Amino acid sequence: MAETYERVHSPRFAEVARDLVELASVGSDARVLDVGTGTGVAAAVAVEAGASAVGVDASFGMLAVGRRVRPGLRLAAAEAIDLPFRDGAFDAALGNFVLAHFTKVETALFDVIRVVRPGGRVAFSAWADGPDAYQDAWRGMIESVVPREMLQPAYQQAAPWHERFRSRNAVEEALIDAGLRHVRTETAKYRWAYSRADYLDGLEVFATGRFVREMLGERGWADFAARVRGEFADRFPDPLNDFRDVILAVGTKT
Ligand SMILES: C[S@@+](CC[C@H](N)C(=O)[O-])C[C@H]1O[C@@H](n2cnc3c(N)ncnc32)[C@H](O)[C@@H]1O
Repeated sequence: MAETYERVHSPRFAEVARDLVELASVGSDARVLDVGTGTGVAAAVAVEAGASAVGVDASFGMLAVGRRVRPGLRLAAAEAIDLPFRDGAFDAALGNFVLAHFTKVETALFDVIRVVRPGGRVAFSAWADGPDAYQDAWRGMIESVVPREMLQPAYQQAAPWHERFRSRNAVEEALIDAGLRHVRTETAKYRWAYSRADYLDGLEVFATGRFVREMLGERGWADFAARVRGEFADRFPDPLNDFRDVILAVGTKT
């Protein structure tokens, strides 16, 4: 899963990370923490900008791929609610597509902000999903094999706050409630071209894909994946263009 994530998603998510690094005004020599770093995408972007960065993630699989692909990068296994760093250790903290994944979002924000120095910046990105023909097609097909009521817990477990943080106001409110000041948000638009095969590989490693695979078993999954590929081939071009709206948010620790 982490290998596919790295191949399909990382190059695209790096574009968002670049905008996040700019929004957080990460300059050279800044000490940056990338929370929920995955395979190290945003930490690597901060390093490109001249910062010294460390990425932490709760997934050993993602970190293992990150270590192989970005061998010079400092990566560590840690939970956002229990960061192994002293107070004020960083000039900035980033979380690229992570906010919606925190189970205890207030506690996680508290600890992320704790490790940033006063005057330092904290920046997050989150999906602002709009109508999307590809996602609708995918969802329609998975709901044809697994009832919606059974899928809901899978969504809930993987990204409990996905719905909430689709709204700029909700992201802004969460950062203000966590004690950040000068909170600013914007919606950025990205256009990502994918081969149809890559797009589907990318969907299959997200929460619903993983859940359906587990439910169907390997044989059932292979049949299902072939049907999805057939339906996408009938309905959509190759390569396809995916237009995504992303909320970028930044605040300052007082
Ligand atoms: C959608 S991925 C984003 C990865 C990376 N930031 C990027 O831009 O490619 C979300 C990541 O957050 C991590 N994560 C979720 N909750 C976490 C937590 N409480 N503490 C640390 N990492 C967490 C997951 O393991 C996953 O790697």
